[in-house]
Amino acid sequence: MKALILSGGMGTRLRPFTCSIPKQLVPVANKPILVHCLENVRDIGVRDVAVVVGDRAEEVRAVVGDGSRHGLNVTYLPQEAPLGLAHCVAIAEDFLGDDDFVMYLGDNILAEGITEAARAFRADRSAARLLLTKVADPRAYGVAEVDPDGRVRALVEKPQQPRSDLAVIGVYFFTAAVHEAVKAIEPSARGELEITDAIQHLVRRGDRVVAEEYAGYWKDTGSPDDLLDCNRVLLDRITPRVRGRVDAASTVEGHVVVEAGAVVERSRLVGPLIVGEGSVVRDSELGPYTALGRDCVLEDAGIRDSIVLDGVTIQGVRGLSGSLIGRSAAVRTGEAAGRRLIIGDHTQAEVAA
Ligand code: DAU
Repeated sequence: MKALILSGGMGTRLRPFTCSIPKQLVPVANKPILVHCLENVRDIGVRDVAVVVGDRAEEVRAVVGDGSRHGLNVTYLPQEAPLGLAHCVAIAEDFLGDDDFVMYLGDNILAEGITEAARAFRADRSAARLLLTKVADPRAYGVAEVDPDGRVRALVEKPQQPRSDLAVIGVYFFTAAVHEAVKAIEPSARGELEITDAIQHLVRRGDRVVAEEYAGYWKDTGSPDDLLDCNRVLLDRITPRVRGRVDAASTVEGHVVVEAGAVVERSRLVGPLIVGEGSVVRDSELGPYTALGRDCVLEDAGIRDSIVLDGVTIQGVRGLSGSLIGRSAAVRTGEAAGRRLIIGDHTQAEVAA
């Protein structure tokens, strides 16, 4: 089995992060979302992976490289524009050949992995196997109607009047039968070749398409609140380890990771929490549910329930929570009498009234 991972497209809802970093590379529990996807694929025994990339290809390559770091062989497939999920399958046809494959949307987090679904697919080799989850408002997703025996009866992409509450998760298992279906469909009203339409084509012509509800935690990381939610869920699963230096005047409670080269002095660390490589934390209170990237400097700071990217400085500011702080940003008290903000486009700042 091979894997096709989608890391193209444009992420407008995650602004401002996606101005400087593709959404699939935003870190959750200190690891880019795309790397969580790659690890789930590796864990089902796949080695050959194609990653579809758009105009942010260089940044994706810089993180993933040739895949060897993650035990994978990675090939890149440039996509000239985000023309749809089925378009991604079309451009991957030569790479995939006649092999079965898993297609994985690079902005989806499946915290419990995909081993169960992979086992079921390998056992029955249906033309397509989908993972579903019940959602409150299915209109933002592909929606499936499924028989009690798990056979898919119909699939519709983002219907205005959904006929079930079962949303399609962004991980799909296919045999090579899908290539014909991709060739048979036309672009949708939004101008994309929809994988949902290709699968519906398989259903209509009588191929076996099955689905099961995903038992674990799933999120399509569409918004900053989604990212913070994923961050909490994945931080709950970390294995504590202290590789950096924590002085005797500091306290560590709960599951805390202090990466190599990090220095913590006179501070209180409350897990779940990760202090990234090379970061310096002094006289501060961190956590719970906080992931601090590499080479950050926190002095006299207080932050909980947040994602802090690499190279951030926080000095003299406490009470931060629910925050996403972009790369090399600085948050500090200053000389100015009032409040001074130098922040980028589409940024949000919330201060006490
Ligand atoms: O997350 C689950 C949902 O994903 C499903 O329920 C829907 O049926 C499916 O169509 C998809 O919907 P989205 O609107 O969330 O897809 P999005 O356009 O956000 O693309 C998903 C990922 O694939 C994202 O990481 C960008 C990448 N992508 C997308 C397109 C359209 C590409 O690499 N190339 C593309 O052409």
